[in-house]
Amino acid sequence: MHTAVCDALRISHPVVQAGMGGWTNPALVAAVSNAGGLGILACCWSSADVVRQSLRQIRALTDRPFGVNFVLHLTDDAVFQHCLDERVPVFSFFRGDPGPATARVHAIGAKVLHQITTVAEAEQACAANVDVLVAQGCEAGGHMGPMPLWTLLPEVVRVAGHRPVLAAGGIVDGQGLAAAIAFGAAGVLMGTRFLATPEAPATVDHKQAIVNARLGDTIPTLVWDILWGEDWPGGIRTQSLRNAMTDRWDGREHDLRAGLDAVRAEFAAAEARQDITLIPLLAGVGAARIRDILPAADVVRDTVRDAEEILRHLAARAPA
Ligand SMILES: Cc1cc2nc3c(=O)[nH]c(=O)nc-3n(C[C@H](O)[C@H](O)[C@H](O)COP(=O)(O)O)c2cc1C
Repeated sequence: MHTAVCDALRISHPVVQAGMGGWTNPALVAAVSNAGGLGILACCWSSADVVRQSLRQIRALTDRPFGVNFVLHLTDDAVFQHCLDERVPVFSFFRGDPGPATARVHAIGAKVLHQITTVAEAEQACAANVDVLVAQGCEAGGHMGPMPLWTLLPEVVRVAGHRPVLAAGGIVDGQGLAAAIAFGAAGVLMGTRFLATPEAPATVDHKQAIVNARLGDTIPTLVWDILWGEDWPGGIRTQSLRNAMTDRWDGREHDLRAGLDAVRAEFAAAEARQDITLIPLLAGVGAARIRDILPAADVVRDTVRDAEEILRHLAARAPA
């Protein structure tokens, strides 16, 4: 399946793996890129040394295009500059005005993919001249915006004009890719689906919890950002699997802030023993449709194969 995003990013298949801060590694990035998609290394929450070493490892594992991801308001400029110096071929951004960062990326001849969650952000990204837009719906895992994907996407496609748009949020398979194409997108960006792969650096328990999840098992919440001490603009929430921590504190954020020191101590202890009832298991609503832990290359291959089959089938059934 070849679309405009394949030309823009010089990849074979319109399937992009999301930058997931703390949850990507060279093995995952290279596996996706080697399979013809685009793997992306998340750089926020990683030290300059880790990023430097990861870029070396990715280049040892693949000669295909890959990307680096930055949440703009959390970007360490030294890490960003290092990625520019290393001539990484694709930069992916999330949140904020991508204008200044895009100019620096374009100056080295690399491409920019910018993830937005509203039409206003899409307009801002077009004014900044980004190369590819990612429309992220509220179905997404991790930090997510306010709009359902299938409502947001057609509006973003309209605003984007000639720029390719990727659909993100709740997409886990070829049905999602086929639907995205039907809505005018040029491909998909998936996070949660790529977490449930052997290559991803999530714990075995996290991956299994995604496989076990059913509809209604995820929750968009402020609890994790309060515990992490992160202040995201615009009341943005983080989608994760429900557990005892979200059951106890979601909707009681005032009480959580009032007793923060004690809960943080409990949280740190839970993280140390990887107690999945109390730590964040980030995942989007699409987790309910993930039934197995699959190699990342199989995810790319199956997604494209199934989407092609669905689109062929629909074309054959279309009324004359
Ligand atoms: C574990 C996790 C961590 C994430 N971290 C980031 C991040 O560091 N930067 C970013 O741009 N998006 C991040 N996201 C959001 C993704 O870019 C993307 O929008 C989302 O994964 C798409 O929804 P899906 O998970 O349902 O496929 C994260 C998502 C997950 C699941």
